[in-house]
Amino acid sequence: MIDELKKEIEGVQRSFVKEIEQLQSPENFSALKERYLSRKKGVITMLLSRLKEFPAPEKPQAGQAINQLKDFIETALAGNAFQGGLRNGAEIWNDHSLPESASPVGRFHLIAAIQRQIEDLFLNLGYEIALGPEVELEDYNFTKLNIPEHHPARDEQDTFFLEGHDELLLRTHTSPMQVRYMLAHPPPFKIISPGKAFRKDDPDATHSPCFHQVEGLLVDRGIHFSHLKGTLEAFCRSFYGPDIVLRFRPGYFPFTEPSAEVDISCFLCSGKNPECRVCKGSGWLEILGSGMVHPQVLRNCGIDPEVYSGFAFGMGIERVAMVKYGVPDLRLLYENDLRLLNQFG
Ligand code: PHE
Repeated sequence: MIDELKKEIEGVQRSFVKEIEQLQSPENFSALKERYLSRKKGVITMLLSRLKEFPAPEKPQAGQAINQLKDFIETALAGNAFQGGLRNGAEIWNDHSLPESASPVGRFHLIAAIQRQIEDLFLNLGYEIALGPEVELEDYNFTKLNIPEHHPARDEQDTFFLEGHDELLLRTHTSPMQVRYMLAHPPPFKIISPGKAFRKDDPDATHSPCFHQVEGLLVDRGIHFSHLKGTLEAFCRSFYGPDIVLRFRPGYFPFTEPSAEVDISCFLCSGKNPECRVCKGSGWLEILGSGMVHPQVLRNCGIDPEVYSGFAFGMGIERVAMVKYGVPDLRLLYENDLRLLNQFG
């Protein structure tokens, strides 16, 4: 007999749960409460009235089972939003005492965020943003930039060519945008060109076959190396911190002469910590390639190098992310793990 009662109690509890979940109004709430807990003819009362039919040894167990059901129903009703006689549904939805639910907010990916920061700084210096295609002419990516067909720089950059189109490739840097802009605009001008670049690198902690660059180009009369230095100094101090010192090391790029690799003093330890996690104790961070636009490049693009001169620079955005935000492996930037991405932007 007790087993039958327990089964019945389970059934009552199940249908009660269903009913309370489907409650739509305070009126239904009162009716539900009445149906289960009314002293005169509620479900609980009916069950208790059957106790006398049980043989004496089963009575305590039966009473306990019914009381457990009663407790369950009372607790569930007390926690229901309709309890207390709220008058309409709207009030339920505006219950300000409920804990807030955090809704996810979108933000820029770290690469996009850094690109925008760099763009903003150069826009403030009066630069224009010039965007170019990712599928580029070999002529613009190499030849016009003074990288002739058998120049070793072509191997170095290990290029993705488009099958069946020898003259088309995925740009290996954003520098072909220099060519496009110079061919289309007479000087003076100053532009930056952000975007994706592609090289056949196997992915590792510091290489990826697709990466991002920002390139800069300024051409005017009487431009010399100190303009380049001043511009990069202004940029690096705004971007990395006001006390940054720049170091220009002689470098080589076929499209600039003279060329310089630019390092900044470590913004974390200023070279004072031999175990610094950012500069690894060297005190310097390599961040940019730069130089004066090669006269042949100007000539290739229809600009007279006797009248005009210019400077150019280029930086990798992934490299900036690694240096500035301490991202240890650039592959992390492409895995889209929100635990990493939510820390930025
Ligand atoms: N295009 C070069 C690179 O991808 C960077 C660079 C740009 C260097 C402009 C000098 C001037 O490595």
